[in-house]
Amino acid sequence: MEKKWWQEVVVYQIYPRSFKDSNGDGIGDIQGMTEKLDYLEKLGIGAIWLSPVYKSPNDDNGYDISDYEAIMTEFGTMEDMEAFLSEANKQNIKVVMDLVVNHTSDEHRWFIEAKKGKNNPYRDYYVWADPSDDGGVPNDLRSAFSGTAWEFDEASGQYYLHLFSKKQPDLNWQNKEMRQSVYDMMNFWIDKGIGGFRMDVIDLVGKVPLEGITNNGPQLHEFLQEMNQETFGKHDLLTVGETWGATPEIAKLYSNPTRNELSMVFQFEHIGLDQQPGKEKWDLRPVNLAELKRVLAKWQTELGNEGWNSLFWNNHDLPRMISRWGNDREYRVESAKMLAILLHMMKGTPYIYQGEEIGMTNTPISDISEAKDIETINMYTDRLEQGYTKEEIITSINVKGRDNARRPLAWNASGNGGFTTGSPWIALNENYKEINVEAALNDPDSIFYTYQKLVQLRKEKPIMVWGDFELIDTVDNVFSYYREYKGERWLVVTNFSNEEQPFSSEDEIQTVIIQNDKENITGLKEMSLRPWQAFVVKVK
Ligand code: NOJ
Repeated sequence: MEKKWWQEVVVYQIYPRSFKDSNGDGIGDIQGMTEKLDYLEKLGIGAIWLSPVYKSPNDDNGYDISDYEAIMTEFGTMEDMEAFLSEANKQNIKVVMDLVVNHTSDEHRWFIEAKKGKNNPYRDYYVWADPSDDGGVPNDLRSAFSGTAWEFDEASGQYYLHLFSKKQPDLNWQNKEMRQSVYDMMNFWIDKGIGGFRMDVIDLVGKVPLEGITNNGPQLHEFLQEMNQETFGKHDLLTVGETWGATPEIAKLYSNPTRNELSMVFQFEHIGLDQQPGKEKWDLRPVNLAELKRVLAKWQTELGNEGWNSLFWNNHDLPRMISRWGNDREYRVESAKMLAILLHMMKGTPYIYQGEEIGMTNTPISDISEAKDIETINMYTDRLEQGYTKEEIITSINVKGRDNARRPLAWNASGNGGFTTGSPWIALNENYKEINVEAALNDPDSIFYTYQKLVQLRKEKPIMVWGDFELIDTVDNVFSYYREYKGERWLVVTNFSNEEQPFSSEDEIQTVIIQNDKENITGLKEMSLRPWQAFVVKVK
């Protein structure tokens, strides 16, 4: 495989609404991001994945775009965006834009035109269908945000498809002009000097809705090859597809360099492991660590040289991993560092979600009036109708709801964590007085410095990027593996639990690379690992 820059960097995701507010309106913005580039440089990251900053009525916080070539009013102007890009590039940080092209906002000019009638040139940019024979919805496709995926349009007597909210009508990728309009828009951003694209629910663009096919549709890869050729293929960019249903075989279709599609995908197999099989994400069950190891190890080994992994625990759609599978109370610092070490030592491009590097935690709510997220709010109404109790639903929201990750980043211990001088669009987690960037930077043992070290190591040690992976057989709660490269061997050992765990190895320690404990490890035989202990040693 030819070596690429995006295989060697760590990416940091910014959710701009909650990152840093520069003008006191309570909403994070682009100037706030520019102000904080020094912080990201200190962390050492090589790229930013920027959640959408385009013009949007914010039904789904920017994932409903009404103009791809304009900036959301609350976030600033195109000049702010250009200044941000140029400052980031000066600091050697590439900016990977979110590309949301499975759907637009219903306030996008294309959809406003499309609604004008069946003969409008933009009509076919979207997916329309006649009512079924009984006069109802065309079929039983469901929206990811609850309810039917079809919305009736009185004027034309047809339904349009929305796999997300009804303010997010699905684009029709079968339409060539529509695809060309998307490519033109992508080139508009490439010309501005961006570092790539994160492609929102890209596995849906090959859909054949009337046959009930949504993800992995028959023309999906054909469209991606065309997109590659028409846009980023001529440049050296990072492209990562959000692909919920990907298996390693499917991931190779997207990311095998010989196929000219994407750099890598986000796969979510590990993320679903605390969900009851065949049910929704809200239907909880404890994660099984043996299964987690099996899944992560499978992804490490099965891609071989025919694909590339991304590595992540968190993003703006997921609860904070430290609260989910770590321990955000008595072992907050230890478990956060352990999760970081475990993930960053694997093969693939690691992603850090804002606040992860300081150990931000979930924020439980006690009433639905505290929720802001459309997915959460719709699900609440839907499940109440289905007979769930309020308590049951709130429990699921507190474990899985998307607002958990969307609380503002706390920069210091002052009012509203220094995020805003105004009133934040969503309240901060009350623990911001202890868990904030300033406190982390002032404490040499903080989670931040573990992340900083991991990022630095990845720049210096090719074994972290290119080394082979081998899982070690241990008790379920210990996750341990080797990385091996050009005769060098690293042993990674982590205790994924609140209890002491046994671990033993015949290997001899050459050097300690990183650990989450102050006390140095001296030997590997018959160890009793402390709760959440994690270390990496170079061995003979
Ligand atoms: C995935 C995004 O990550 C999520 O935030 C959004 O709601 C849906 N796609 C729809 O765009």
